[in-house]
Amino acid sequence: MTPTVTEAGLALTDPAAYADEPRLHEALGLLRREAPVHWVEAAGFAPFWAITRHADIMEVERNHALFHNAPRPLLQTAEMDALQRQREAEGTGLRTLIHMDDPQHRVVRAIGADWFRPKAMRAMEDRIGELARRYVDRMAALGGSCDFVQQVAVHYPLYVILSLLGLPESDFPRLLKLTQELFGGQDEEFQRGTTPEELLTTLLDFFEYFQGITSARRETPTDDLASAIANARVDGEFLSDIDVASYYVIIATAGHDTTSSTISGGLHALIQHPGELARLQDDPALLPAAVDEMIRWVTPVKEFMRTATAETEVGGVTIKEGEAVLLSYPSGNRDEEVFTHPFRFDAGRDPNKHLAFGFGVHYCLGAALARMETRALFAELLPRLESIELTGQADWTATTFVGGLKHLPIGYRLKG
Ligand code: HEM
Repeated sequence: MTPTVTEAGLALTDPAAYADEPRLHEALGLLRREAPVHWVEAAGFAPFWAITRHADIMEVERNHALFHNAPRPLLQTAEMDALQRQREAEGTGLRTLIHMDDPQHRVVRAIGADWFRPKAMRAMEDRIGELARRYVDRMAALGGSCDFVQQVAVHYPLYVILSLLGLPESDFPRLLKLTQELFGGQDEEFQRGTTPEELLTTLLDFFEYFQGITSARRETPTDDLASAIANARVDGEFLSDIDVASYYVIIATAGHDTTSSTISGGLHALIQHPGELARLQDDPALLPAAVDEMIRWVTPVKEFMRTATAETEVGGVTIKEGEAVLLSYPSGNRDEEVFTHPFRFDAGRDPNKHLAFGFGVHYCLGAALARMETRALFAELLPRLESIELTGQADWTATTFVGGLKHLPIGYRLKG
């Protein structure tokens, strides 16, 4: 049954809606057409404006002085919002780049930025190529069938991040579990607990782990991102423990589920569009465009929020000072005004002005890394892939924040 505009707005607060893409896109399409700047009042959440058109999302992101990330950078229940405020007041709250605004944001972002520039990316290329080969070899060793998400896609990007941070491979299982618990927090399969307190214990585990890393890197600096963060000084002082830990948390979490969701959702798209798979295999030069199309198609980050610092207007609607807006990236990336046939997976789409990495001063720091990782995996897999099919049901994570497929059972034949 077609939803009403009110029901469509409520879908944005319902993790289950994101695990059912036809339902989600029906709701988002309706909002874009009928109420592109729509006030949502959902039980258990502070109200907000849902922004669903590409142009309006860009406008909000561009006006970063008028729309701040603080105090509500992403959608959480009112209970979690309150707990976050309490932690902030106590000085124990998570304070990552996405929680900050200028001038602090600019200074803190610069600490990690060098590690994501082209020079650093080139230095990572061989290591990433080696990891991509390792995981395609693992697919071959699995003997022609696997759950691609759980056996390949969730592991590979975390290894990439650990390499960039300079952390030992032996820490991998612990970090994998923690990032899944943190981001899959709304999905029963990955939940450690259901109360905000239980979710916060996951965060505290993260902090504890990374505090050990900070002390080690201050004692013996090394040539890696973890050391750059641990030894960074602002106005002559080290970052506080909480700021250092927050930095690690954002790199480890932002770089993990996002890229794994892109890779598994990208493979799923190719299985469902065999003509596009064949096109890509025949013309590998299309791969960079195909990677961006995968990122648009999957849009692993479902939303971020901003809060208006003064009364303003978006899409002809008045937003009052202090009101929050939710930027719906999956909606912007299917906007008919910007994309020709937005519901068609086009491996050679050009131009592709997707918003999956956001826009403006908070534009994803790891965008070049995410593209390189995804490209490396498909550059390794596609020439070796003789056939591939789904052997069961693809399943999506129920989350309003970051996610994609959680199971992708496949059968395949690989050369070599
Ligand atoms: C396909 C994969 C990825 C997607 C779709 C993605 C998406 C995003 C989005 C939407 C934002 C917020 C942008 C905004 O507010 O305008 C963001 C921020 C960020 N991302 Fe990514 N990301 C991906 C991969 C990565 C990777 C691999 C890393 C690092 C290892 C990373 C690190 C960050 C950081 C540090 C921020 C905060 C930037 C800031 O606030 O200044 N991301 N990302």
